Amino acid sequence: MKKIRLPVLDERMLLIASQVREGGIPADVGTDHGYVPIYLVESGLCPRAVATDINSKPLDIARTNAKSYGADDKITFCLSDGLREFDPAALGVTDVIVAGMGGELIASIIGATDFVKTPGVRLILQPMSSVPELRGYLYEMGYDVKREKLCRAGDKIYTCFTAEYDGVSRTLTDAELCLGRDIGSEESDEYLNEFLVRTATKLRVRLEGRRRGGLPTEREEALLSEVSAIAKARGFDIK
Ligand SMILES: C[S@@+](CC[C@H](N)C(=O)[O-])C[C@H]1O[C@@H](n2cnc3c(N)ncnc32)[C@H](O)[C@@H]1O
Repeated sequence: MKKIRLPVLDERMLLIASQVREGGIPADVGTDHGYVPIYLVESGLCPRAVATDINSKPLDIARTNAKSYGADDKITFCLSDGLREFDPAALGVTDVIVAGMGGELIASIIGATDFVKTPGVRLILQPMSSVPELRGYLYEMGYDVKREKLCRAGDKIYTCFTAEYDGVSRTLTDAELCLGRDIGSEESDEYLNEFLVRTATKLRVRLEGRRRGGLPTEREEALLSEVSAIAKARGFDIK
């Protein structure tokens, strides 16, 4: 019997992998090292996967890594800017991962293809920055955000979105854009307290800076009171 060997994923990559549906065919766009698709096929969760990158160097590394795990025959490698230069439908892709990039780049990658609007196709998006911008884009452009889950990587807290296109454009309030529409609904979100403390600290710094600069502070004050209310409702003390 073949001995299974899996790459060790950190918590962020494990969360991303856990959002892929069992039996599905994931496309990991901007795969870099290729560890997520290797993990998914070698663990038996997915029969096949697609790994893409805009740069040949990371794609070669992903290919080499896949070979070392014996996964290269289950992964299709594509040199591609986003999903532009391969046919995800022909490869049977069901779940599209775009992770570890800025929120604006992720939005531009999904905005450049209609494939992500195919009914039943799941998007798994994990931005490293510009989270409110990506959130606003998804809701406005007709994506139904099914889940937002927090995770830790190093000393940072990140958000992972799971979404599906339904064509319904939604407008978020300022607080929803900043914090997420259903913040706190994820009972198991062990990082919610820390996320709220960090968000409140950032808002206080911004608020102070704007006060000193004689700029309006209503937005920061409203957001800060929203953060405090959510924390209070969850029994956290964010002072
Ligand atoms: C920081 S790495 C993230 C790797 C991995 N997805 C993760 O979450 O750990 C970003 C990767 O995205 C690739 N990339 C950047 N822009 C891209 C695009 N438009 N299309 C495909 N890949 C892209 C880069 O070459 C790089 O390998």
